[in-house]
Amino acid sequence: MNNLLIKQVEEIIKEEDFIAAVSNVSAVINSSLKDLNWCGFYFVKNNELVLGPFQGKVACTHIPFSKGVCGACYTSKKAIRVADVHEFAGHIACDSASNSELVVPIIKNEEVVALIDLDSPLINRFTQDDEDTLVEIAKLLTSKF
Ligand code: SME
Repeated sequence: MNNLLIKQVEEIIKEEDFIAAVSNVSAVINSSLKDLNWCGFYFVKNNELVLGPFQGKVACTHIPFSKGVCGACYTSKKAIRVADVHEFAGHIACDSASNSELVVPIIKNEEVVALIDLDSPLINRFTQDDEDTLVEIAKLLTSKF
């Protein structure tokens, strides 16, 4: 696991202001992991996923639970690693440069409260180690919700 990144997130989330903290979490993930073209949050709000702080190009602002890799992550309550997004039925292409994706749920009291979404222009960019690191970061973020 990327212990340095996990430690940095631990420090960053000592910030009490929620938006300030999660904005910096998106920034530190983006600058620590190579070959990302998008990295950020979707929050569960009013029965859909709503865009939160992120790094990257303009993205979809509202995603139904039934759509995309993000919707699949919400529904399954599990991290999803997609090696080639063009082969994922229903993938939502916010940036046509994206080729692989990792989405990890943030779970509080057994409910998904948010997602961390990472996109890469490389096919098969994300490893099990990246997934384990992001799952750990998601656990740390539970305390912010
Ligand atoms: N690709 C995602 C949508 C969000 S963007 O990648 C930022 C999906 O299929 O759910």
